[in-house]
Amino acid sequence: MALISFAPHTGVWLLSTARTSYALRTDETGAPCHVAWGPRLTLAEAAELAVPLAPPASSFEGRPAVGEELPVDGGARYGVPSLQVRFADGSRAFEWQPAGHRLDESTPGTAELALDYRDRGYPLDVTLHYRVHEDSDVVERWTVLRNAGDQELTLPRADSAAWTLPALPGYRLSHVTGQWSAENTLHREPLPAGETVLGSRRGVTSHHANPWVMLDAGDATEEQGRVWSAALAWSGSWRITAQRTPDGRAGFTGGAGHDGASLPLAPGEEFTTPVMAGLFSDGGFGAAGRAWHAYTLAHVLPRPRETAPVLYNSWEATGFDVEPAAQAALAARAAALGVELYVVDDGWFGGRRHDRAGLGDWTPSPDRFPDGLGPLVREVHRLGMKFGLWVEPEMVNADSDLYREHPDWVLHVPGRTRTELRNQLVLNFARRDVADWAYGWLTRLVADHGIDFLKWDMNRAFSEAGWPERTGGADRVATGYVHHLYGVLDRLRADHPDLRIEACSGGGGRVDLGILARTDQAWTSDNTDAADRTRIQHGHTQIYPARTMAAWVTDVPNQLTGRTVPLRFRFHVAMAGLLGIGGDLSRWPEEELAEAAELVAEYKTVRHLVQHGVLHRPAGPGDDGPTVVQYVSPDAEETLLLAWRPPLPHGAPRRPVRLAGLTPGARYRDARTGAVHHTTVLTGYGLTLDLPPADWASTAVHLVRVPDGEVPAS
Ligand code: DGJ
Repeated sequence: MALISFAPHTGVWLLSTARTSYALRTDETGAPCHVAWGPRLTLAEAAELAVPLAPPASSFEGRPAVGEELPVDGGARYGVPSLQVRFADGSRAFEWQPAGHRLDESTPGTAELALDYRDRGYPLDVTLHYRVHEDSDVVERWTVLRNAGDQELTLPRADSAAWTLPALPGYRLSHVTGQWSAENTLHREPLPAGETVLGSRRGVTSHHANPWVMLDAGDATEEQGRVWSAALAWSGSWRITAQRTPDGRAGFTGGAGHDGASLPLAPGEEFTTPVMAGLFSDGGFGAAGRAWHAYTLAHVLPRPRETAPVLYNSWEATGFDVEPAAQAALAARAAALGVELYVVDDGWFGGRRHDRAGLGDWTPSPDRFPDGLGPLVREVHRLGMKFGLWVEPEMVNADSDLYREHPDWVLHVPGRTRTELRNQLVLNFARRDVADWAYGWLTRLVADHGIDFLKWDMNRAFSEAGWPERTGGADRVATGYVHHLYGVLDRLRADHPDLRIEACSGGGGRVDLGILARTDQAWTSDNTDAADRTRIQHGHTQIYPARTMAAWVTDVPNQLTGRTVPLRFRFHVAMAGLLGIGGDLSRWPEEELAEAAELVAEYKTVRHLVQHGVLHRPAGPGDDGPTVVQYVSPDAEETLLLAWRPPLPHGAPRRPVRLAGLTPGARYRDARTGAVHHTTVLTGYGLTLDLPPADWASTAVHLVRVPDGEVPAS
């Protein structure tokens, strides 16, 4: 069946993915309405569902609050508007008038539908976009709004899309919350009647919530059940509102910006919302996660097939004390462990000796690097590693030459305090000159020094987010900032195709599908405590693949939590993502260095499974036993299990772990012990883990398929 098809007699558009269907139509009033989102349908079957929006229970009621593709402010609508508009004469509201459609199937494996509408009396054009790919069940949606008049209009709200769920006996919401160093706490809770708002007003995606939601009927598990989910590809403020209506329906709407922020649209100007991607999955949260991972690898990340190198980062070892000799010594130790990328973190530039000065002055500190960065870069390359460097291009300390020269470059409001967080101010990237300045020094820095990797940090939220030099600047700054940020990253990548970039925002404060489209990985959290990480990483992988999840092994007691766990446990937790090391290697005893080298070597034999394999989560961090993750190669020839045992009460159950995704009828050999296991046993009965009953015990089990003809040793 075509990816997108149309039935003229019913007016139904049917989007068909491998396992799911999404259907919509323009209804009798001219408004785009939801028809279906769930298991696969034919056009005829979808037509059966194309009924008018549920009639109100009485003539007192207006249009149902959920059920439209983009509920507007207008007419008898009282739910959450996805689109609000204010015209120059003060008139508000939008009245749908269909204006045609465009179907683009020119890219093999992809189809894109654009449904055009205009307002019946005012000059605003609205186009709803839908895109599907043959290798994914994800439906990408976004909206383009165009001022077709000759006077400015304002958009108090312009969401990307609204999504409607079928009538279910109940609804449960899954999402994550957090804070700095405590990202991604997963919540699964009944969706309350009314409106539940998730979002960020910080100008950045935030540690506090992440722009995705999942809804289910309350009966889905990791392995089973129907789950409807969506994620926003946006790195600024955002809002997703889930609604559970009094008549027992549910849906959600999402987009850029937060309440109170309005977007002006000049005559002829267009605003393209970020993509909000949606997914229906009937294999529980595990299958939903795997589908998001596959989509992110196939359609979001710029270089998903690459093997991420094992990196070393100097931050926890040296802090701001970046001295070339000490860095070279650390680099030598890192290289001896098998590290492939050495990253110098904060403290290499200007007057940066602490977080109160120097940010913005992006030249190597002359007293520390009298000959520039060149000698250190060459030394790292000589040691056989790539060279990475920390930057924070969107920020400035008040105590910096840049700020003294350009005090107007920061977000500010005349007459108001310039509030500092982490002793720094936010450069207004919405200004073309600021974005060009950042692009200029970054591209020169990378070119001049042969830099292979940038850790791009962003350490504070917006405040006093004004732009007084531009008329209407305060309303344009939030979206303009993100667009220019994306532009600088895109230009930099275009200039330096071999450059790789890590997205960081004080850890995981800016992880989303928008930033991941132009970076290679994300710094998951500043919290490197391996015990806390099992929970943070569990939340991260609900949507984002392990290929994006940077994880370091650091010193104990952990700098943040004071917790001490064994080196092996720290490695096994970091091996669940992109392994890095961030400890002070100059203080690691010889036996730990030797163990670390072995574990780095082991990671290199299994990282293809972690980075490009399929993730199953047999036991999560909240369960009553060890936490277990399993990665299976796409051809099911190999699998890796990582298990971590937190402190458990005496007598806690010791259950075998049932594996998933293996070839039926096959046998797998444990690469370490040589033991051979049958798929039937592994998946039906489970593998007994060789985990001692001790706190912070951990194991990595690599199983490789035994060739079919091989006679088992008796
Ligand atoms: C916050 C990052 O998340 C840390 O890893 C480190 O790079 C510091 N910033 C440096 O200031």
